[in-house]
Amino acid sequence: MRITLKIWRQADAASDGAMHGYQLDEVSEDMSFLEMLDVLNEDLIARGEDPVAFDSDCREGICGMCGLMINGQAHGPDVTTTCQLHMRSFKDGDEIVIEPWRSNAFPVLKDLVVDRSSFDRVIQAGGFISVNTGAAPDAHAVPVPKDKADRAFDAATCIGCGACVAACPNGSASLFLGAKITHLGELPQGQAERDRRVVNMVGQHDHEGFGGCTNIGECTSSCPKEIPLDVISRLNWDLHAAMRHGH
Ligand code: SF4
Ligand code: FES
Repeated sequence: MRITLKIWRQADAASDGAMHGYQLDEVSEDMSFLEMLDVLNEDLIARGEDPVAFDSDCREGICGMCGLMINGQAHGPDVTTTCQLHMRSFKDGDEIVIEPWRSNAFPVLKDLVVDRSSFDRVIQAGGFISVNTGAAPDAHAVPVPKDKADRAFDAATCIGCGACVAACPNGSASLFLGAKITHLGELPQGQAERDRRVVNMVGQHDHEGFGGCTNIGECTSSCPKEIPLDVISRLNWDLHAAMRHGH
């Protein structure tokens, strides 16, 4: 396939960025999207030019590092991570526009690489679990109803990729935050700090500059782990409960 790329290039956080055009003449439909960018970078390096900076790690849909806006959609046209997107989702002659995540809370470091440490700080604000959970065999000593175990597990599949934020017109991280709150809030071990956790995490979310949720739903449509919208209801329910309890 012949593919035209338009890619956001930005030297560093302090510089202005701009879109740059590139042409690739031999793209296989079996390449992953990131392998296609690897080929572009090999070409750029061979020509003595600066390769395009982008993030990746596992390339297996697990780590959440590889987020890109592709033709205006978080992670591109398929509901998956960018590393699991393949060039067979495009066709010969396509123009593909590639930008970094769009969010004030994820500042661009270089080209397509953004700083997502705001997510780390939201999680850190949640604090620790004071319940002694013992060693691995002891986990079976705490009964957890099947429906709660399933819901906690599903929420825990959030990989912190940030697509929900990038897709949201408000730049809200409510889906990410709802997933974290639901994950621990469903389990018996998560009850002791439940009120404090939600208040502190919501406070850090707002402090980082993420926007508010207005129930648009772009987040869940873009989520590669299909985290459902109702984790945000759970987040709001827990926050109101904490406020009723005087937090
Ligand atoms: S909720 Fe989904 S889109 Fe948001 S960070 Fe988690 S996995 Fe990524
Ligand atoms: S590189 Fe790890 S999820 Fe894509």
